[in-house]
Amino acid sequence: MSHLDNIPSTPGKFKMEKSPYIHRLRWHSSLTKLTFWSLVFLGSILIFFFRSPSSSPLQSDPSRRSLSTYDWGGPAWEKRVRSSARVRSRNGISVLVTGAAGFVGTHVSVALKRRGDGVLGLDNFNNYYEQSLKRARQALLERTGVFVVEGDINDSALLKKLFEVVPFTHVMHLAAQAGVRYAMENPSSYVHSNIAGLVSLLEVCKSANPQPAIVWASSSSVYGLNTKVPFSEKDRTDQPASLYAATKKAGEEIAHTYNHIYGLSLTGLRFFTVYGPWGRPDMAYFFFTRDILKGKSIPIFEGADHGTVARDFTYIDDIVKGCLAALDTAEKSTGSGGKKKGPAQLRVFNLGNTSPVPVSDLVSILEKLLKVKAKRNIMRLPRNGDVQFTHANISLAQRELGYKPTTDLQMGLKKFVRWYLNYYSLGKKTAA
Ligand SMILES: NC(=O)c1ccc[n+]([C@@H]2O[C@H](COP(=O)([O-])OP(=O)(O)OC[C@H]3O[C@@H](n4cnc5c(N)ncnc54)[C@H](O)[C@@H]3O)[C@@H](O)[C@H]2O)c1
Repeated sequence: MSHLDNIPSTPGKFKMEKSPYIHRLRWHSSLTKLTFWSLVFLGSILIFFFRSPSSSPLQSDPSRRSLSTYDWGGPAWEKRVRSSARVRSRNGISVLVTGAAGFVGTHVSVALKRRGDGVLGLDNFNNYYEQSLKRARQALLERTGVFVVEGDINDSALLKKLFEVVPFTHVMHLAAQAGVRYAMENPSSYVHSNIAGLVSLLEVCKSANPQPAIVWASSSSVYGLNTKVPFSEKDRTDQPASLYAATKKAGEEIAHTYNHIYGLSLTGLRFFTVYGPWGRPDMAYFFFTRDILKGKSIPIFEGADHGTVARDFTYIDDIVKGCLAALDTAEKSTGSGGKKKGPAQLRVFNLGNTSPVPVSDLVSILEKLLKVKAKRNIMRLPRNGDVQFTHANISLAQRELGYKPTTDLQMGLKKFVRWYLNYYSLGKKTAA
């Protein structure tokens, strides 16, 4: 009964309670009220869970839309989780890889699994780009023995469950809303995955016992409008040119907080334009390939005064080596049960190639490999998030991680084009 029922509305009502008839009447009216409010309560719950998705203001956010629709749990599911995360080599580690069906996530998961580490993937398979490519990567992972749990990093109950089933020693956090231009179209997806999702993950990691060490993907975009090159980890990162960059910068500050308060070991990796087989269709090298083959014109940007736009393109295998080295050199977190026990490791590294290439040269290499002349449409670089150039100083990663990129753009694109032609022609698929 609600506490409101004990408050008399008039003094007289209180006295009348002595009559058995009135008592019955009051009991009856309370029962009616209870039934009424129970129905209202049940109704609200039903409306909350079964309202049509079109009524949601976040409908345009794919990662959000799919949050509550995953199916996980049960003994068979737990068995798959445990088996995928089982370490099979001496001194191996057990790693939760978020964003495992993504470009970098797939490559890192395969590399870890192949050397005998335990690997469990997590991905929400959102539709930012063609989902069939994510499913094809998932099939590849399945063949390698990696189970990818379908779920969102904002789902704390799922994350807690995963840590209950497997005491992960490491988390390789790659799930994010990537891409700089899409941030103008769907800003909330960046806040959802790159900020709220990161906090949700770190909350679960800080309470896990033992706490895992976390390696996560930041981005070269944090250098924003800086003009001093090459970009060094010591440079300022307070002039982001896109919301994407701002969320990665926020991630670095959030990482600092969780390291400081809870003793989580955290390593941020600032990737520089990663490319290669199984890549991301929203990136220039990928859609240039598709559009050159289709005979469509491709936009080639130039800066003010015909300035060159250049990128420090980094081949996926080099990035994977950097990720594995970061995991292998990560020290243990120091906290337990959500409490810090001592100072913990906090690191940030550039992972680039240290040799920026003008985008027009990238197109020339693609033309030779595809044996098709590109229709170049030279345009002024729009102010929608892209910066004019990126160039990594990698001496810190060289010193601390033994990181040494070995694949140049010519060789890397050759491998990408071979994969692209095989994937889209043999599979009779067409790139969207
Ligand atoms: N590829 C690059 O050039 C590059 C450069 C700098 C930084 N990064 C960063 O590296 C990481 C991996 O990038 P990528 O190129 O593989 O991108 P990707 O989009 O291919 O992979 C990210 C994966 O995360 C998943 N995901 C997104 N939000 C999620 C959520 N809320 N919950 C669960 N899964 C979610 C997506 O479905 C996707 O499969 C990202 O953090 C990205 O920001 C990439």
